Amino acid sequence: MHKVIYDTDPGVDDAMALLFLHRHPDIDLIGITTIFGNASIKATTRNALFLKREWNIPAPVAKGASITIDPSREEIGWPTLVHGDNGLGNIEVPETVDLPLDPRPAYRFIIDTVRANPGEVTLVAVGRMTNLALALKDDPEIAKLVKAVVIMGGNFYVAGNVSPVAEANIHGDPEAADIVLTAPWEVTVVGLDVTSITTMSRSYLAAAAAKGDKAVKMLNDLSQFYIDFYTHAVDDGMMVHDSCACVYVVAPELFTTITGSVRVVCGGIADGQTIVKPDGRRFPPGKWDGLPSQIVCTGVESEKVNDLIRETLLRV
Ligand code: BDR
Ligand code: CA
Repeated sequence: MHKVIYDTDPGVDDAMALLFLHRHPDIDLIGITTIFGNASIKATTRNALFLKREWNIPAPVAKGASITIDPSREEIGWPTLVHGDNGLGNIEVPETVDLPLDPRPAYRFIIDTVRANPGEVTLVAVGRMTNLALALKDDPEIAKLVKAVVIMGGNFYVAGNVSPVAEANIHGDPEAADIVLTAPWEVTVVGLDVTSITTMSRSYLAAAAAKGDKAVKMLNDLSQFYIDFYTHAVDDGMMVHDSCACVYVVAPELFTTITGSVRVVCGGIADGQTIVKPDGRRFPPGKWDGLPSQIVCTGVESEKVNDLIRETLLRV
């Protein structure tokens, strides 16, 4: 059983991944931490509580950071064109949801939960990496106590999605991502190299919804806005970015990986670019020395990923 804390900015594809985590039999979802990104922290936290309530998810929700780890970084705003004004594809969501939040900020919830379950917690982060970086800054020893970290973010051998070289989750807080990727823990990076080719068609999701319960029907409804946005890049379907990271936790054999040190460009025209130095490649002594080796996904069996998502969403 994988004990998972899900760090998320719901977000349409975040919502699908949340239902996947909640319904997968090998996953024990022990916490949901929110982060700004696809919408403001107020909206993503409200959305997490809304999904928790609608889908009867027992895991507590802790509210995360509202701005980048470097407060002087310029705010880049919310991608309302992608996830809608409310972050959930503009389906009807109440202004507020009457459910209690965990009293702790997300980074503290992460630290406490990892310390209470040494060697057992997998952190799955599918938004800006700010909460994870804050947890590491406050308590660096958690790096040794976490079982694994799996992130959706970055791009290595394909173009970015918010600039020619950068992916949204990393570009939204590059300094935080660089802290996370250079810390002495094992990070698996599930980036655009695999998520941009893992697309689910509108009809595939609709067919699942027709068979599924009201949670899957709601997921189908809230995905329509996002699918409409993705028509520029996908043939009537959506990239299931965040679900790919969750699938990796239970089915890593569906992914091809390399290992290497990963850094993030912070500032300038390549702001937010992720770079991997594959293990074994040697360069003159410099900035690539002494970094931890991380796991970078470079290939994926997309159809099998979709089938696993579908099969899991349909479990009740
Ligand atoms: C990432 O950015 C967000 O729009 C998605 O939720 C995903 O986590 C893809 O670049
Ligand atoms: Ca996300």
